[in-house]
Amino acid sequence: MAAERALAMATCTAPVNIAVIKYWGKRDTDLILPINSSLSVTLHQDQLKTTTTAAASRDFTEDRLWLNGKEADVGHPRVQACLREVRRLARKRRGGAEDTAALSLSYKIHIASENNFPTAAGLASSAAGYACLVSALARLYGLEEELSEVARRGSGSACRSMFGGFVQWQRGERPDGTDSLALQVAPETHWPELRVLILVVSGEKKPVGSTAGMQTSVETSPLLKHRAEVVVPERLAQMMQHIQERDFEGFGQLAMRDSNQFHATCLDTFPPIFYLTDVSRHIIALAHRYNAHHGHTKVAYTFDAGPNAVVFALADAVAEFVEVVRRSFPPAANGDQFVRGLPVGSAALPQELLAAVVTEPVPGAVQYILHTKPGPGPQRVDDPSQHLLGTDGLPRSRA
Ligand code: DP6
Repeated sequence: MAAERALAMATCTAPVNIAVIKYWGKRDTDLILPINSSLSVTLHQDQLKTTTTAAASRDFTEDRLWLNGKEADVGHPRVQACLREVRRLARKRRGGAEDTAALSLSYKIHIASENNFPTAAGLASSAAGYACLVSALARLYGLEEELSEVARRGSGSACRSMFGGFVQWQRGERPDGTDSLALQVAPETHWPELRVLILVVSGEKKPVGSTAGMQTSVETSPLLKHRAEVVVPERLAQMMQHIQERDFEGFGQLAMRDSNQFHATCLDTFPPIFYLTDVSRHIIALAHRYNAHHGHTKVAYTFDAGPNAVVFALADAVAEFVEVVRRSFPPAANGDQFVRGLPVGSAALPQELLAAVVTEPVPGAVQYILHTKPGPGPQRVDDPSQHLLGTDGLPRSRA
């Protein structure tokens, strides 16, 4: 008779995503069901990714979790919801039959997760984190089905990180959430010229987390209700068309408007929530001056629940806009580290552009720029030397 496997391990990576039609507000806080559909761009994992290893062993005495090398609370309700759902699906797949060659579902598990970007930079990490957790667990238990519904239970926006490219999270209608899923609108290869610049303005922790913030908005903001019922359905259809047609003018205009309306619902929340800072507002004004100078939309900003700007541009505009940012927010000490990620060429700025666009420089306000592009969904890591856990099931010491 085959013995049950003593130790099994699986590692995956998963991406960050940035919404261009924002999710804000839940109709069910336990199942994480949104009040409106949303649409995002998955960012490339060469610049931003989470790596997660999940291991199961008959020798483990309790479930354990390590985040960026530090032990964390595995009892967190959202971690538990993901674990429970993956195990339930694995049980269902086995049809109740005792397959002795399969990994026992009664084994305790160890999970280690790390980001390749500083958590302190305030870049959203929960979407990549939960997408990666669910991907690694699914691989451990041999599940092959689409699991955005499970990732959604970790963090709403995480369901969109289960795919690459351009991704819609459908609101769904059913009370049990079985139709509240992510689906790919177009793969990452669809718009090869599209680039993303993340302007990191602050490492501070946000004042109100999105989970708490959005519920106060649902309870108090009439603008949010109007947005979810009337504005988003129209915008979603328009945004899908702009993406299909690779129409940067339409895509950029709508992304900026939707970010602004999301922050307007935050101001309409009572008491109000402020995620944008003076520096964020400087970046907004700069982008509008820059587009006005060129007479069309060359760059488009969007902001999540924090002050960092994510700027979309086409490849041929990147070098010039990066130079505009460098002149507008002259770097303090780290001049040569100011631009990170994909290489950026140099650009000389014409005098008239400088005069019209770089009006009031704020030294040091932007810490650095991360240059990236749309990328693929979660990936399997097959090289065992890349596992974050050793054969003893404990985090490998990081060199
Ligand atoms: C502003 O997905 O972090 O980034 O579902 O409570 O975990 P929970 O919230 P979360 O909210 C993201 C809000 C947003 C907009 C977006 O990503 O669509």
